[in-house]
Amino acid sequence: MLTGNEIRQQFIDFFKEKGHIFVPSSSVVPTDDPTLLFTNAGMNQFKQYFLGIQDAPYKRAVNSQKCIRAGGKHNDLEEVGKDSYHHTFFEMLGNWSFGDYYKEDAIKWAWELLTEVWKLPKDKLYATVHDSDYEAYELWKTKTDINPEHISFHGDVDNFWEMGETGPCGPCTEIHIDTGIEYCDKVDDPNHNCVVNSDCHRYIELWNLVFMQFERQEDRSLIPLKNKFVDTGAGLERLCRVIQNKTSNYDTDLFANIIDAIADITQEPYLAGDDGVAHRVIADHIRCLCFAIADGGMPSNEGRGYVLRRILRRAARYGRLLNQNQPFLYQLSDIVAEHFGKHFSELKEKLAYIKMIIKAEEERFNLTLDNGLNKFNEIVDKLKSDTISGLDVFILYDTYGFPPDLTQILAEEKQLKIDMDGFDKEMEKQKERARSASNFKLKLEDINWIHLKEKDETVFLGYDQSSTECFINKYALNENGKISIVLDKTPFYAESGGQVADTGRLFNDSTEIRIIDVQKHNNEYIHVGEIVKGEISKDKFTAMVEDEYRLSIARNHTATHLLHAALRQVLGEHVQQKGSLVATNYLRFDFTHINAVNQKELEIIEDIVNNEVKKATNLTAELMSIDDAKSSGAMALFGEKYADEVRVVSVPGFSKELCGGTHLENTGQIGFFKILSESSSAAGIRRIEAVTGTNAEQYVKQLKKEI
Ligand code: SER
Repeated sequence: MLTGNEIRQQFIDFFKEKGHIFVPSSSVVPTDDPTLLFTNAGMNQFKQYFLGIQDAPYKRAVNSQKCIRAGGKHNDLEEVGKDSYHHTFFEMLGNWSFGDYYKEDAIKWAWELLTEVWKLPKDKLYATVHDSDYEAYELWKTKTDINPEHISFHGDVDNFWEMGETGPCGPCTEIHIDTGIEYCDKVDDPNHNCVVNSDCHRYIELWNLVFMQFERQEDRSLIPLKNKFVDTGAGLERLCRVIQNKTSNYDTDLFANIIDAIADITQEPYLAGDDGVAHRVIADHIRCLCFAIADGGMPSNEGRGYVLRRILRRAARYGRLLNQNQPFLYQLSDIVAEHFGKHFSELKEKLAYIKMIIKAEEERFNLTLDNGLNKFNEIVDKLKSDTISGLDVFILYDTYGFPPDLTQILAEEKQLKIDMDGFDKEMEKQKERARSASNFKLKLEDINWIHLKEKDETVFLGYDQSSTECFINKYALNENGKISIVLDKTPFYAESGGQVADTGRLFNDSTEIRIIDVQKHNNEYIHVGEIVKGEISKDKFTAMVEDEYRLSIARNHTATHLLHAALRQVLGEHVQQKGSLVATNYLRFDFTHINAVNQKELEIIEDIVNNEVKKATNLTAELMSIDDAKSSGAMALFGEKYADEVRVVSVPGFSKELCGGTHLENTGQIGFFKILSESSSAAGIRRIEAVTGTNAEQYVKQLKKEI
């Protein structure tokens, strides 16, 4: 029997032989796309190429992308584990053409791989095409030997693929397999017509070939992309199911080992069907958690972290149904790393860290559950009927993590019922809330620009210069009386990467504008300012950064790099940057670490940083390819996707980081570094706040005064 690992490899090799370059999966936790909760399709990492923002470095690619669909457009978490084929985490195999081959080869090769390499029975395979896509229909008929009666037309719902509310999209053709009438779960429904896309369990979609050619706009209109692309996606789990001839994805080797381990740990054998829900939920969720945490995800109370927390809690809750009242999920990480670590080495590299995070979160949750039991008893004490209300069941679920089935079991023990309809209604309301919460897109101000030049882009000169002569490309008057100005050249650093923007002046003989903020949008630097005197014109201006202010920021930025390196020396290599703020008067640095950093450790860290300050080392900044940067040992942000050419800032012999910020010339300019506080920022994330230079001196003076 072919294993899941072999099937993945065969897919990759098949397309490599057809001239495709293998591209590793991108992180499942995207850090550079605010429109996306998790990587949910193979195409995410190629979005820039489709939209023509960047040129693809290859014409053809093949990959196996780590995807999470849990909440949002493509999946419903509560369903996972109840059937045989929904998952939170899955691998999407894909072959890609970037303006190269199109429909014909995509269709021919998919057919060849399925029927000749994997020898799936042709008489069981079906193809669907979009209503408008006669070309694809003809290609299926003439270029493959599929039974022509197995090709059918469908509307947008089934055969038009969109990444999200906006973005690249296009018609698609899907390949489905008939698993047999015995898998139809709607035989008793007189209205059910058992065919492809009729929403029963008999036909399973195996592979989706998308012909990407449009971009969906916010107003729902479609504009054509510059090039045409092929984006295909085949779920590895489903492929394994049919190739390994199983009746459920969970019976494939991708899950079976994990399920065996669950049975071992819990001493509860796995049973197919409804009695196996708990095992399936746990097996699915532990894969998701391991991959997400390996890529920098972290259970928390908001955004992606909240989704991960819900997933972990759902698994732990089902664990209670298997009598697991103590942390146990973390032990399953070993088997996940062992099974998938060969292709995804990060699982092995980060195994200890993954276990630590999962265990800590399980412990936290167990505490919550015990509180939930108290809440349950309180609800029962106050009950005036024999039914626990939907709202109470929901509160137990949402705040205390009690699944309704657990509440039901507890209720039955006390001869009580629960109002499931009421609970469902509350769940609906919560989904509505979640939907609006996941819509966390950047809201760019609707600015009415007045253009003075044809070009909008700004050249940034601020790494070497603090002032420059320049012209105004365009400007706009803001509602609050301020003015937004895009310059052709600027020394002003725009807020990014945690570093605040520069401030300063824009002036010429007749006009003076105070610049109070700078934001970057694509390649435009939008300077927000107040007119002190004069008016906007096409004349030449001087843009000048406030040097003192910039120097304070640079002190804190360079000190942040020193702090990062010192933390890794003292606490360990698991320390990863999770966020930072580099302001004029202080710095804040968030990083992964479970326990509080104790006083002794803080002192050592502070000493290490101050030693580097005293050494007065000259910093270097160089541009290099991302590969060279990584092989030189430069620290990159976990899971972040970088451009091909990156800037590497080094304190030679001590720290090396990918960074776009403005820094000191010499560490000695920091003067003095002092930690203000150490605290928890979220589960598994600590926060340090510190000051440098004059601010550090003043802080010490203040302390002395207080003493
Ligand atoms: N983008 C398509 C999908 O996710 C094909 O890869 O189904």
